[in-house]
Amino acid sequence: ATVRYEAESSPATCAGAIESNHSGFSGSGFCNSNNATGASSQFTVNAASAGSATLAIRYAHGGTDTRSADIVVNGATVQSASAFGATGAWTTWSTKTVTVPVNAGSNTIRLVATGSAGLANIDYIELTDGDDPGQGGD
Ligand code: GCU
Ligand code: CA
Repeated sequence: ATVRYEAESSPATCAGAIESNHSGFSGSGFCNSNNATGASSQFTVNAASAGSATLAIRYAHGGTDTRSADIVVNGATVQSASAFGATGAWTTWSTKTVTVPVNAGSNTIRLVATGSAGLANIDYIELTDGDDPGQGGD
């Protein structure tokens, strides 16, 4: 199954502010992280079973630098300095997809800025676990 988790919806947390001034986001806003190394956007997600899951991260980045982030699952960094490139405008949203390991049940997924500019603006994540027909089992 694929489930969407909005950055503005508790228990998600945003080290910065939930804002809505750049259109095109889903839900009621997005996480504008502090422009600081270590700034984070964190989600709590559910997986039906342990194994690999597909994580889609929707973001916008209207600057010209690359906003890299560690992707941390249940406290372990599973992707180091994953690159979130410029999308051209703060109102232009892109989706970045990575594969992550998950436990059965509840998992925390944290995006942690590795550069002093912080994260790109984060709209939501979607987690697709391994139980969809045709996707292969775990
Ligand atoms: C601008 C923009 C914010 C963004 C910030 C940044 O202030 O309006 O949405 O988060 O730049 O560079 O991080
Ligand atoms: Ca910001």
